Amino acid sequence: MVPANQWIKIKAPATVANMVCGFDILGFAVNNPYDEMEMRWMERNSNEPSITIINIDTYQLPTDPEKNVAGAALYALLEEYEALKNGNAKIKFEIKINKLIKPGSGVGSSAASSAGAVVGANYLLGNIFSKDDLVRFAMNGEKIASGVKHADNIAPCIFGGVTLVRSIFPLEIVALPSPQLHVTIVHPQIEVRTSDARSILRQQVQLKDAIKQWGNIAGLVAGLMKSDYDLIGRSLEDVIIEPVRSILIPGFDELKLRCKQAGALGGGISGSGPSIFMLSKTKDIAEAVEKEMNQLYESIGLPHHTYVTTINQAGVEITE
Ligand code: HSE
Repeated sequence: MVPANQWIKIKAPATVANMVCGFDILGFAVNNPYDEMEMRWMERNSNEPSITIINIDTYQLPTDPEKNVAGAALYALLEEYEALKNGNAKIKFEIKINKLIKPGSGVGSSAASSAGAVVGANYLLGNIFSKDDLVRFAMNGEKIASGVKHADNIAPCIFGGVTLVRSIFPLEIVALPSPQLHVTIVHPQIEVRTSDARSILRQQVQLKDAIKQWGNIAGLVAGLMKSDYDLIGRSLEDVIIEPVRSILIPGFDELKLRCKQAGALGGGISGSGPSIFMLSKTKDIAEAVEKEMNQLYESIGLPHHTYVTTINQAGVEITE
Protein backbone atom coordinates (compact mmCIF):
# COMPACT_ATOMS: atom_id res chain seq x y z
CA MET A 1 0.00 0.00 0.00
CA VAL A 2 1.30 3.48 -0.86
CA PRO A 3 1.80 5.55 2.33
CA ALA A 4 -1.09 7.89 3.22
CA ASN A 5 -0.89 11.45 1.82
CA GLN A 6 1.57 10.47 -0.91
CA TRP A 7 0.45 11.68 -4.35
CA ILE A 8 0.75 9.38 -7.37
CA LYS A 9 0.45 10.39 -11.04
CA ILE A 10 -1.79 8.56 -13.48
CA LYS A 11 -2.01 8.54 -17.28
CA ALA A 12 -5.30 7.28 -18.77
CA PRO A 13 -5.49 6.73 -22.56
CA ALA A 14 -8.27 7.63 -24.96
CA THR A 15 -10.10 4.67 -26.49
CA VAL A 16 -12.00 3.88 -29.66
CA ALA A 17 -15.11 1.86 -28.88
CA ASN A 18 -17.05 -0.45 -31.24
CA MET A 19 -14.20 -0.79 -33.76
CA VAL A 20 -16.88 -0.32 -36.43
CA CYS A 21 -18.69 -3.68 -36.38
CA GLY A 22 -18.47 -4.57 -32.66
CA PHE A 23 -21.06 -2.25 -31.10
CA ASP A 24 -20.62 -2.27 -27.31
CA ILE A 25 -18.17 -5.22 -27.39
CA LEU A 26 -14.92 -4.24 -29.18
CA GLY A 27 -12.54 -1.37 -28.45
CA PHE A 28 -8.89 -0.35 -28.39
CA ALA A 29 -6.72 2.14 -26.54
CA VAL A 30 -4.54 4.76 -28.27
CA ASN A 31 -1.34 6.48 -27.19
CA ASN A 32 -2.65 9.98 -27.84
CA PRO A 33 -4.64 11.78 -26.43
CA TYR A 34 -4.70 10.82 -22.73
CA ASP A 35 -5.86 12.29 -19.42
CA GLU A 36 -3.55 13.09 -16.51
CA MET A 37 -4.52 12.68 -12.87
CA GLU A 38 -2.99 12.87 -9.42
CA MET A 39 -4.36 10.97 -6.48
CA ARG A 40 -3.72 10.22 -2.80
CA TRP A 41 -5.50 8.45 0.05
CA MET A 42 -5.91 9.50 3.68
CA GLU A 43 -7.66 8.22 6.76
CA ARG A 44 -11.20 9.52 7.11
CA ASN A 45 -13.19 10.70 10.12
CA SER A 46 -16.79 9.55 10.02
CA ASN A 47 -18.21 13.01 9.17
CA GLU A 48 -15.82 13.63 6.26
CA PRO A 49 -16.59 13.02 2.55
CA SER A 50 -14.84 9.96 1.17
CA ILE A 51 -14.04 11.46 -2.26
CA THR A 52 -12.79 14.94 -3.17
CA ILE A 53 -12.50 15.86 -6.85
CA ILE A 54 -10.43 18.78 -8.05
CA ASN A 55 -10.68 19.68 -11.75
CA ILE A 56 -7.57 21.32 -13.09
CA ASP A 57 -8.87 21.74 -16.63
CA THR A 58 -11.41 24.22 -17.99
CA TYR A 59 -14.30 21.86 -18.79
CA GLN A 60 -16.19 22.58 -15.57
CA LEU A 61 -17.25 18.97 -15.06
CA PRO A 62 -19.12 18.32 -11.80
CA THR A 63 -17.00 18.07 -8.66
CA ASP A 64 -19.85 16.43 -6.74
CA PRO A 65 -18.52 12.83 -6.69
CA GLU A 66 -22.00 11.41 -7.17
CA LYS A 67 -22.34 13.29 -10.46
CA ASN A 68 -18.76 12.88 -11.61
CA VAL A 69 -17.84 9.71 -13.53
CA ALA A 70 -14.57 9.25 -11.61
CA GLY A 71 -16.46 9.77 -8.34
CA ALA A 72 -19.11 7.16 -9.21
CA ALA A 73 -16.40 4.64 -10.11
CA LEU A 74 -14.48 5.34 -6.89
CA TYR A 75 -17.62 4.97 -4.74
CA ALA A 76 -18.13 1.47 -6.18
CA LEU A 77 -14.50 0.56 -5.39
CA LEU A 78 -14.63 2.06 -1.87
CA GLU A 79 -17.81 0.21 -1.04
CA GLU A 80 -16.19 -3.13 -1.89
CA TYR A 81 -12.93 -2.19 -0.16
CA GLU A 82 -14.67 -1.26 3.09
CA ALA A 83 -16.77 -4.44 2.94
CA LEU A 84 -13.57 -6.48 2.48
CA LYS A 85 -12.14 -4.82 5.60
CA ASN A 86 -15.40 -5.46 7.52
CA GLY A 87 -15.99 -1.72 7.85
CA ASN A 88 -12.75 -1.26 9.84
CA ALA A 89 -10.91 0.76 7.20
CA LYS A 90 -12.23 4.29 6.82
CA ILE A 91 -10.36 6.02 4.03
CA LYS A 92 -10.83 8.91 1.63
CA PHE A 93 -9.41 9.75 -1.78
CA GLU A 94 -8.42 13.10 -3.21
CA ILE A 95 -8.11 13.21 -7.00
CA LYS A 96 -6.97 16.00 -9.32
CA ILE A 97 -8.12 15.55 -12.91
CA ASN A 98 -6.59 17.24 -15.92
CA LYS A 99 -8.69 16.27 -18.92
CA LEU A 100 -6.71 16.38 -22.13
CA ILE A 101 -9.39 14.24 -23.84
CA LYS A 102 -12.24 16.58 -24.62
CA PRO A 103 -15.53 15.42 -23.05
CA GLY A 104 -18.08 14.32 -25.65
CA SER A 105 -15.50 13.80 -28.40
CA GLY A 106 -16.22 10.08 -28.86
CA VAL A 107 -12.81 8.79 -27.82
CA GLY A 108 -13.66 7.58 -24.33
CA SER A 109 -13.22 10.74 -22.28
CA SER A 110 -15.53 9.55 -19.50
CA ALA A 111 -13.96 6.08 -19.55
CA ALA A 112 -10.48 7.58 -19.10
CA SER A 113 -11.65 9.45 -15.98
CA SER A 114 -13.41 6.41 -14.47
CA ALA A 115 -10.71 3.91 -15.39
CA GLY A 116 -7.85 6.21 -14.38
CA ALA A 117 -9.47 6.82 -10.99
CA VAL A 118 -10.00 3.16 -10.11
CA VAL A 119 -6.59 2.00 -11.38
CA GLY A 120 -5.02 4.81 -9.31
CA ALA A 121 -7.06 3.89 -6.22
CA ASN A 122 -6.16 0.22 -6.59
CA TYR A 123 -2.46 1.07 -6.83
CA LEU A 124 -2.70 3.23 -3.68
CA LEU A 125 -4.37 0.33 -1.86
CA GLY A 126 -1.70 -2.21 -2.88
CA ASN A 127 -3.36 -3.66 -6.02
CA ILE A 128 -5.91 -5.77 -4.18
CA PHE A 129 -8.47 -5.80 -7.01
CA SER A 130 -8.20 -7.58 -10.38
CA LYS A 131 -8.51 -5.79 -13.72
CA ASP A 132 -11.97 -7.34 -14.15
CA ASP A 133 -12.99 -5.85 -10.77
CA LEU A 134 -11.71 -2.45 -11.89
CA VAL A 135 -13.73 -2.63 -15.12
CA ARG A 136 -16.81 -3.44 -13.03
CA PHE A 137 -16.24 -0.40 -10.77
CA ALA A 138 -15.46 1.93 -13.67
CA MET A 139 -18.65 0.95 -15.51
CA ASN A 140 -20.55 2.93 -12.85
CA GLY A 141 -18.97 6.04 -14.38
CA GLU A 142 -20.22 5.08 -17.85
CA LYS A 143 -23.72 4.71 -16.40
CA ILE A 144 -23.59 8.37 -15.38
CA ALA A 145 -22.13 9.49 -18.71
CA SER A 146 -24.38 7.61 -21.11
CA GLY A 147 -27.11 5.99 -19.05
CA VAL A 148 -25.77 2.50 -19.79
CA LYS A 149 -23.06 0.36 -18.17
CA HIS A 150 -21.15 -0.44 -21.36
CA ALA A 151 -17.51 -1.55 -21.05
CA ASP A 152 -16.12 -1.20 -24.56
CA ASN A 153 -14.15 1.94 -23.66
CA ILE A 154 -13.38 0.99 -20.05
CA ALA A 155 -11.95 -2.46 -20.91
CA PRO A 156 -9.27 -1.30 -23.38
CA CYS A 157 -8.50 1.71 -21.16
CA ILE A 158 -7.67 -0.63 -18.27
CA PHE A 159 -6.22 -3.62 -20.16
CA GLY A 160 -4.57 -1.71 -23.03
CA GLY A 161 -4.56 -3.06 -26.59
CA VAL A 162 -7.70 -4.38 -28.25
CA THR A 163 -10.35 -5.95 -26.05
CA LEU A 164 -13.52 -7.94 -26.54
CA VAL A 165 -16.32 -7.73 -23.97
CA ARG A 166 -17.66 -11.26 -24.43
CA SER A 167 -20.22 -10.72 -21.69
CA ILE A 168 -21.20 -7.87 -19.37
CA PHE A 169 -23.22 -9.86 -16.82
CA PRO A 170 -21.21 -11.80 -15.76
CA LEU A 171 -18.27 -9.73 -16.91
CA GLU A 172 -15.84 -11.45 -19.27
CA ILE A 173 -13.14 -9.45 -21.01
CA VAL A 174 -10.91 -11.07 -23.62
CA ALA A 175 -7.65 -9.26 -24.46
CA LEU A 176 -6.92 -9.65 -28.19
CA PRO A 177 -3.52 -9.47 -29.87
CA SER A 178 -3.09 -7.05 -32.73
CA PRO A 179 -0.47 -6.42 -35.39
CA GLN A 180 1.19 -2.98 -35.63
CA LEU A 181 -1.58 -0.57 -36.61
CA HIS A 182 -1.50 3.19 -37.07
CA VAL A 183 -4.56 5.14 -36.09
CA THR A 184 -5.78 8.46 -37.49
CA ILE A 185 -8.57 10.22 -35.63
CA VAL A 186 -10.47 13.33 -36.60
CA HIS A 187 -12.64 15.12 -34.10
CA PRO A 188 -15.06 17.50 -35.81
CA GLN A 189 -15.95 20.16 -33.26
CA ILE A 190 -19.65 19.36 -32.99
CA GLU A 191 -21.43 17.81 -30.06
CA VAL A 192 -23.00 14.34 -30.24
CA ARG A 193 -24.20 13.11 -26.87
CA THR A 194 -23.77 9.37 -26.39
CA SER A 195 -27.26 9.16 -24.89
CA ASP A 196 -28.73 10.80 -28.04
CA ALA A 197 -26.61 8.65 -30.36
CA ARG A 198 -27.97 5.58 -28.56
CA SER A 199 -31.58 6.69 -28.45
CA ILE A 200 -31.84 6.96 -32.26
CA LEU A 201 -30.83 3.32 -32.79
CA ARG A 202 -33.37 0.77 -33.93
CA GLN A 203 -34.13 -1.89 -31.34
CA GLN A 204 -34.76 -4.63 -33.91
CA VAL A 205 -32.22 -6.07 -36.32
CA GLN A 206 -32.95 -8.00 -39.52
CA LEU A 207 -31.50 -11.49 -39.59
CA LYS A 208 -29.64 -10.84 -42.86
CA ASP A 209 -27.95 -7.80 -41.28
CA ALA A 210 -27.11 -9.73 -38.12
CA ILE A 211 -25.46 -12.45 -40.24
CA LYS A 212 -23.33 -9.85 -42.02
CA GLN A 213 -22.42 -8.18 -38.75
CA TRP A 214 -21.30 -11.29 -36.89
CA GLY A 215 -19.36 -12.37 -39.99
CA ASN A 216 -17.52 -9.05 -39.78
CA ILE A 217 -16.89 -9.28 -36.03
CA ALA A 218 -15.51 -12.80 -36.37
CA GLY A 219 -13.48 -11.70 -39.42
CA LEU A 220 -12.04 -8.73 -37.54
CA VAL A 221 -11.04 -10.84 -34.53
CA ALA A 222 -9.49 -13.48 -36.81
CA GLY A 223 -7.71 -10.76 -38.82
CA LEU A 224 -6.22 -9.27 -35.65
CA MET A 225 -5.07 -12.67 -34.41
CA LYS A 226 -3.56 -13.69 -37.76
CA SER A 227 -2.09 -10.23 -38.52
CA ASP A 228 -4.07 -10.37 -41.76
CA TYR A 229 -4.39 -6.69 -42.70
CA ASP A 230 -6.66 -7.30 -45.70
CA LEU A 231 -9.07 -9.34 -43.61
CA ILE A 232 -9.05 -6.57 -40.96
CA GLY A 233 -9.84 -4.01 -43.66
CA ARG A 234 -12.70 -6.05 -45.19
CA SER A 235 -14.21 -6.67 -41.76
CA LEU A 236 -14.33 -2.98 -40.77
CA GLU A 237 -17.93 -2.74 -41.97
CA ASP A 238 -21.03 -1.95 -39.93
CA VAL A 239 -24.45 -2.56 -41.48
CA ILE A 240 -26.45 -1.91 -38.29
CA ILE A 241 -25.28 1.13 -36.33
CA GLU A 242 -23.29 3.26 -38.78
CA PRO A 243 -26.09 3.79 -41.35
CA VAL A 244 -28.19 5.37 -38.57
CA ARG A 245 -25.53 7.33 -36.69
CA SER A 246 -23.50 8.60 -39.62
CA ILE A 247 -26.21 11.14 -40.46
CA LEU A 248 -25.13 13.03 -37.32
CA ILE A 249 -21.60 13.54 -38.68
CA PRO A 250 -21.09 16.03 -41.55
CA GLY A 251 -19.25 14.62 -44.59
CA PHE A 252 -19.02 11.12 -43.10
CA ASP A 253 -19.40 9.04 -46.28
CA GLU A 254 -17.13 11.27 -48.35
CA LEU A 255 -14.49 11.27 -45.63
CA LYS A 256 -14.50 7.50 -45.34
CA LEU A 257 -14.19 7.09 -49.10
CA ARG A 258 -11.29 9.53 -49.37
CA CYS A 259 -9.43 7.94 -46.45
CA LYS A 260 -9.71 4.51 -48.04
CA GLN A 261 -8.51 5.92 -51.36
CA ALA A 262 -5.51 7.30 -49.45
CA GLY A 263 -4.71 3.74 -48.37
CA ALA A 264 -6.46 3.28 -45.01
CA LEU A 265 -7.50 -0.30 -44.25
CA GLY A 266 -10.85 1.02 -43.07
CA GLY A 267 -12.53 2.71 -40.14
CA GLY A 268 -15.69 4.46 -39.09
CA ILE A 269 -17.33 6.26 -36.20
CA SER A 270 -15.29 6.21 -33.00
CA GLY A 271 -17.66 5.10 -30.24
CA SER A 272 -20.84 7.12 -30.55
CA GLY A 273 -19.06 9.92 -32.46
CA PRO A 274 -18.54 12.59 -33.57
CA SER A 275 -14.89 11.49 -33.93
CA ILE A 276 -14.02 9.22 -36.86
CA PHE A 277 -11.03 6.86 -36.86
CA MET A 278 -9.10 5.05 -39.58
CA LEU A 279 -6.62 2.20 -39.26
CA SER A 280 -3.57 2.05 -41.51
CA LYS A 281 -0.65 -0.29 -42.00
CA THR A 282 2.06 2.40 -41.96
CA LYS A 283 2.67 5.82 -40.42
CA ASP A 284 2.99 7.35 -43.91
CA ILE A 285 -0.48 6.15 -44.86
CA ALA A 286 -1.89 7.31 -41.51
CA GLU A 287 -0.48 10.79 -42.23
CA ALA A 288 -1.87 10.80 -45.78
CA VAL A 289 -5.24 9.90 -44.24
CA GLU A 290 -4.90 12.82 -41.81
CA LYS A 291 -4.30 15.13 -44.77
CA GLU A 292 -7.53 13.94 -46.43
CA MET A 293 -9.44 14.53 -43.20
CA ASN A 294 -8.03 18.05 -42.86
CA GLN A 295 -8.74 18.90 -46.50
CA LEU A 296 -12.33 17.71 -46.37
CA TYR A 297 -13.25 19.49 -43.15
CA GLU A 298 -11.42 22.65 -44.22
CA SER A 299 -13.39 22.61 -47.48
CA ILE A 300 -16.70 22.55 -45.61
CA GLY A 301 -15.47 25.00 -42.96
CA LEU A 302 -15.86 22.63 -40.02
CA PRO A 303 -13.37 23.20 -37.17
CA HIS A 304 -11.72 19.93 -36.24
CA HIS A 305 -8.75 18.35 -34.54
CA THR A 306 -6.71 15.35 -35.73
CA TYR A 307 -4.42 12.80 -34.09
CA VAL A 308 -2.04 10.32 -35.70
CA THR A 309 -1.19 7.69 -33.15
CA THR A 310 -0.78 3.96 -32.50
CA ILE A 311 -2.55 1.36 -30.37
CA ASN A 312 -1.64 1.74 -26.69
CA GLN A 313 -0.71 -1.64 -25.20
CA ALA A 314 -0.27 -0.58 -21.55
CA GLY A 315 -3.67 0.83 -20.59
CA VAL A 316 -3.82 3.17 -17.58
CA GLU A 317 -0.33 3.72 -16.21
CA ILE A 318 0.97 4.97 -12.89
CA THR A 319 3.77 7.29 -13.90
CA GLU A 320 5.14 8.36 -10.49
N1 HSE B 1 -20.50 1.45 -27.48
C1 HSE B 1 -20.87 2.77 -27.07
C2 HSE B 1 -21.78 3.37 -28.12
C3 HSE B 1 -19.63 3.58 -26.93
O1 HSE B 1 -21.47 3.25 -29.30
O2 HSE B 1 -22.81 3.95 -27.76
C4 HSE B 1 -19.88 4.99 -26.46
O3 HSE B 1 -18.64 5.65 -26.37
